[in-house]
Amino acid sequence: MIICHCNQITSGDLEHAVCCLMRQCNSPDLCPSAVYGELGACPKCCQCFPLAEKVIKQGYLQFICQAEIEARAGEEPGLAKR
Ligand code: FES
Repeated sequence: MIICHCNQITSGDLEHAVCCLMRQCNSPDLCPSAVYGELGACPKCCQCFPLAEKVIKQGYLQFICQAEIEARAGEEPGLAKR
């Protein structure tokens, strides 16, 4: 689903960027501008920010849950088979 029409950013793009940022740092800046920056994009009208914030939060929670599952399975984050 397209979240940002100015930059053609999808919900999947945002979730992927959140995962990348979380792997780079334990407590990254996850504001829309920072996540868009990870995608090489720059906010323009910012009308997408309320929805982007919800998708980013969802991506963050998915990353945390997946990391917990992988930790319990004795694997490193990002290496679990799906
Ligand atoms: S819709 Fe995202 S910056 Fe305009």
